[in-house]
Amino acid sequence: MEAIPPPPPRILIVDDDESVRDVISVLLREEGYHCAVASGADMALELAQHEDTPLVISDMKMPGKDGLWLLEAMREQHPDTAVIMLTGYGDTEAAVDCLRRGAVDYLLKPPKLTDLIRSIERALAKRRVELARKRYQKKLERKVRDRTTELRSALKDVSTTYQNTLLALVTALDAREHETSDHSQRVVEYTTAIAHIMAIKGPELDEIGRGALLHDIGKIGVPDAVLLKPGKLTPEEWVEMRKHPDIGFSMIAPIPFLSIPSQIVLSHQERFDGRGYPRGLAREEIHIGARIFSVADTLDAMTSDRPYRKGTTFANAIEEIHRCSGTQFDPQVVKAFLDIGEAGLVKIKEDMVARKKAAAAAKLNAANGGGTNNGEGGAAGGGSTTPPAGSGGIAASAAAPADVTH
Ligand SMILES: [Fe+2]
Repeated sequence: MEAIPPPPPRILIVDDDESVRDVISVLLREEGYHCAVASGADMALELAQHEDTPLVISDMKMPGKDGLWLLEAMREQHPDTAVIMLTGYGDTEAAVDCLRRGAVDYLLKPPKLTDLIRSIERALAKRRVELARKRYQKKLERKVRDRTTELRSALKDVSTTYQNTLLALVTALDAREHETSDHSQRVVEYTTAIAHIMAIKGPELDEIGRGALLHDIGKIGVPDAVLLKPGKLTPEEWVEMRKHPDIGFSMIAPIPFLSIPSQIVLSHQERFDGRGYPRGLAREEIHIGARIFSVADTLDAMTSDRPYRKGTTFANAIEEIHRCSGTQFDPQVVKAFLDIGEAGLVKIKEDMVARKKAAAAAKLNAANGGGTNNGEGGAAGGGSTTPPAGSGGIAASAAAPADVTH
């Protein structure tokens, strides 16, 4: 089957002189081109609006809007249309100006047919190349966009996997030290809530959350006899215990992704007044993430049950943290913490318990092959650790917050 030849390209001839328009269009039609004519710039633009116009041949001097105006309008509204200008003798300067403004060629009036045909063919060939280049560029851009989306998705997967791995590690560590395995995750929630009030957001908030999650990772190097000892530690045991920020720091500092969190891990036991450990840093020397964490960790430690004592109420813990503002804790952080308020803090804990219950129920449901579940089953090892109101606990022993975290 013979291929159907493409239709001849449409050429729009613009000249205020009717005879010029007629001569050129007749000559070009004889050469096989499809021609349209316009008597002025406005009419030419109007015609180009409604039909694909690969090429415009325009007179330079026209009453009203001239050829230069049309050239600029075409470049702006139809950048894929090639424009050849027709100029009179003595107009060389204007002709050069046309080329500078994007005309593909200029011819002196009246143009010789051979010159005209050569110029038209050159303009159309140039346009074809330009269109092919644009198509290729678009294709390339689409490819880059697709690849970027794929890469972003892969990076997100890696980041999620990383986060889940850290979570598993921290959960195992929590389970070793605490009765429930939610301590670190709760501390992350309190920490990020305080940081949020302090207008910390974006990557910085993520880094601080990660630091809070990993704060006690160094306890992996603390012997069970020290870590799990109920009651007070001896001075020698304290020496062992106080190594955990350094151990944690040296574990994760070499991982570029955890560079900032490692600073929080290293300084999470420092105190605002410089009486913390391991370096005795004070005030702004302590990473802001660690200063925030310190309040969050104390709140969770005071309000959580331990094998040897009951947790105290949120009201007691808040009061105690307030009392230690400026000594153990950064007053700015305490202010943000107080802004959340008792109800807000209790809600953070309750929401987390609810989320864990829902996740466990969904897991159980999936393991049972679907079906309904009342949401009560499967909260293994979890469950609320909210202390009963007025349970007293450490408040009765007048323990300072510093005594409840290590
Ligand atoms: Fe610690």
